[in-house]
Order: sequence, then C-alpha cells, then structure tokens
Amino acid sequence: MSAQAGKYFLATFGCQMNVYDSNLIGGMLEKRGMLATGEADEADVLIVNTCSIRGGAEDRAYARIAGMRYYKRRKPGVRIAVIGCMAQNHGDKIPVELDHVDYVVGPDNYRQLEGMLFQDRPKTAQVLTEQNAFENYEGIMARLDSAVTCHITIMRGCNKRCTYCIVPTVRGVERSREAASIVAEVERAVGEGVKEVCLLGQTVNSYRTADDDFPALLRKLDKIPGLERIRFTSPHPRHFDSETIRAMAESPKVCRHLHMPVQSGSNTMLKRMRRQYTRERFLEIVAEARAAIPGVGFTTDIIVGYPGETEADFAETLSLVEEVGFDSAYTFAYSPREGTPAFDEAETLTAAEKQERLERLIQAQFRISERNLEAMTGRVEEVLIEERATRNEGEWMGKTSCFKKVIFPHAPGLEKGSLARVLILSRSGLVLRGEALEAVEALEG
Ligand code: SAH
Ligand code: SF4
Ligand code: F3S
Repeated sequence: MSAQAGKYFLATFGCQMNVYDSNLIGGMLEKRGMLATGEADEADVLIVNTCSIRGGAEDRAYARIAGMRYYKRRKPGVRIAVIGCMAQNHGDKIPVELDHVDYVVGPDNYRQLEGMLFQDRPKTAQVLTEQNAFENYEGIMARLDSAVTCHITIMRGCNKRCTYCIVPTVRGVERSREAASIVAEVERAVGEGVKEVCLLGQTVNSYRTADDDFPALLRKLDKIPGLERIRFTSPHPRHFDSETIRAMAESPKVCRHLHMPVQSGSNTMLKRMRRQYTRERFLEIVAEARAAIPGVGFTTDIIVGYPGETEADFAETLSLVEEVGFDSAYTFAYSPREGTPAFDEAETLTAAEKQERLERLIQAQFRISERNLEAMTGRVEEVLIEERATRNEGEWMGKTSCFKKVIFPHAPGLEKGSLARVLILSRSGLVLRGEALEAVEALEG
C-alpha cells in the first residue's frame, strides 16, 4: 500500500533548525496530498525528528520512538521514520534496538524519505545517512509554523570543531543558501501574513555566498515591504565583526537583541573547548553592540562542568554573566558525546557537582533577569503581538524588539500581528505587564 494522501504525524526534538526541517518535510508531504495530524493514533506515517546534542536529548527521543510500537500493533500498515541528528549519529543501530522502525534518515536525505514514503513499505528498515555537502533543500517550500513569526534556515552544517559538540558530525560541513532564495522565502511568508522572520544557522553569521555575507543579507532583508522584524540565531563570537553591528544598527527591522552563546567565562575553558575567542573579545563585542544599538538585549548559552573546570573557572563564568548582564541564558551541564574530541577527556566532576554549579548559575542569572526586567518599567516599547495570553483570553502576548515577553489587555485596533506601543507597568515573574497606548488614546479620544 502506498502512503499517498494519508495522514502524517511529526514529533520534533532539538533546536529550531530541526523545527524548520520538520516544516520542510511537512511542505513536501502536503504538496503530495498528505495531511498533517496532531493525533498519532490516526496517522499513517509517524515521523520523529531527533536531536543528539546531549545524552538526555537522545534518551527522550528513544523513549518516544519505543512508545510508537503501540501504534504499529494497532494498525500494522503504519510506517515509522526516525530522522534528524540522532538518526545520523546512530544509523544502523536504531532498527536493531527498535525493530518497529521502517526508516532511519539523516538531515541530508529528506528528499529520499519523501520518495520512499510513496513507495511500498520496505520489508526491512531502510537506513539513509549518506552526507551531502551541497544539500540545501532549494526549491522546497517549508510550511509556515505560525501566522506571525517564522524561522528560516539560511545556512546548514558547521565548520567549527568545538570539542564537546556533536553538531559538526551529524550536520556535516557548512553551506549557505543563495540570498535570492532566502529573500523569496521571506517574501512568500510575508505574503501569508508573517511579520517577523528569525534566520537560523549553527554559526549564522558565518553565512557567505559568492555575492553576499551575513551583514549584506541583513541589509537585503531589511528592504522587504511588509516585513516588520528580523531576528537571527546563533551568531558565533569568532565571526562577529563591526560591519555586522553596523548592519544591525542601520537596519530598522533588525531587532535589538543578540543571542550569542559564550559557553564559559574562563579563557582556559574557552581555549580547551576550541571556541576561538577570549572572554575579553566577547566583552568587547558586547560593548561595541551596546554603544551602537541603544537598548540591545543579550542572551546566551553556557556549559558548566566541562572536564577540568575548576571552581575558579566557574567563578569566571559567574562574573562574566554579571558583567554582561544577560537577559536570559540557556544553561547546560556538560554531557560527554561519543565521537567528539572531548569524549576522551576524563570528566573531573561528578554529576552532582555539575548540577550544583548549574543551580548556582541559574540562581545568579535569575536575579539578573529580574533586575533587567524591572529596569524596563515606565518605558514605552514596541511589542509585536504573537498570540492571546495563555492564562487570560482578554490579554495579548507579544515581545519587545529586545526579546522580552509582554502581556497586556486587549485594546481597540489591535490584533495578532499588530505592532502595539505598550507602556511597561510591572514585572510578574519573568514576563512584563503593560498597557497599550492605543487603549489609553482611545479612552482620551
Ligand atoms: N551553534 C551554536 C550552538 C548549538 S548547540 C553555537 O555554537 O553557539 C546549543 C547549545 O548546546 C550550545 O551552545 C551549548 O551550550 C550546548 N551544548 C552543545 N554540546 C553540549 C554538550 N556536549 N554538553 C552540554 N551542552 C552542550
Ligand atoms: Fe557546535 Fe561549536 Fe558548531 Fe556551535 S559552533 S554547532 S557549539 S561545533
Ligand atoms: Fe540537536 Fe541537531 Fe539541533 S543535535 S541541537 S537538533 S542541530
């Protein structure tokens, strides 16, 4: 039986780039008449897009896939595909442990997956993990993930060799899409009502084609009529130059927010991680961006407990977090990944010690986050309305240009996708509460 015109269910783990890839696959399948379903038990095809970044990410994906055996017992014609970074990482091993899996497909092989789903179901598991340094999925229209904001991958793979990281192994070498094709994809999204685009890449600012580099791309996208906001994640400090800061400052649509992973505040650790910058250089970028982009907000990623991290190294991370004053940070305990250079280094901290440092870091960051939010009260901020607030139907949820969440009551003339001018009144947990000036003016007028 072919899968034509059936329903597909897609579960996505990992980063935004996996979310985008799931949207690419959704785009391919829907073009051929398949329908998306959020109910696994009514699907003909079950797809799990997996992540390998830390041990925990793989454990969660394995558990989810194992749980899908049930659907196959109930409906034997169902097909199950494991795709993404863990599929690339474990390949043939997956169907040995999970014999109900029909396809194991790495990030460069999604076109072949589409083909296979429309042929007869294979008798034995098909494993496709050949890497293709040129696969950019040109010509495929990803489905849109929201009516207001969308994510678009502009470069795939990674040429860095951070010692702890599995991404270069599973995602392959760096490759950038042509600017014209990115512009066309953004224009199509804007045509569907999207107001904000977030550009994605593992080292998004090393984007480069024969004609364009990252700042040039920002300037091109800034000219698209109807697009209100441009974000990007994650820039690598090694590639962050003054021209990028100028392009941000001079492009009104580029948001005043930099998510720039630092990983550690200790030069010893940064060197051992092969991050290719120092604490001093990171702080220099922060200072330059602050001077050029008033009100810019910084967020980051940090790893604690890398092999050899001393209490003094960790103290340097705490002091850097304080010195920059990040608005928020994704914080992780180091997780050894087989196949990475650091895997051979003996861990010097127990799981409990890593956890203890992680908790201290989270506490420190939490206080800074609160402080930064409180400093926003009394200001008027432009907020892009994304959706209704989850707790109260009569309120909107949106974000400031500097990436802070704001909740405020409905006001005349505002809807999903509107840019509202909001007076920030208070902080409630890690969100801001405010009032739209549009509401105040309507009362006065
Ligand atoms: N390309 C991005 C990061 C992608 S992975 C960059 O270079 O900035 C997202 C985050 O996961 C990383 O920034 C890092 O903080 C974390 N991470 C990666 N490998 C890890 C590991 N082995 N253990 C713990 N955290 C890890
Ligand atoms: Fe991993 Fe480093 Fe590449 Fe980021 S830059 S994906 S941390 S290897
Ligand atoms: Fe995970 Fe792959 Fe992203 S390993 S973090 S899903 S690139």
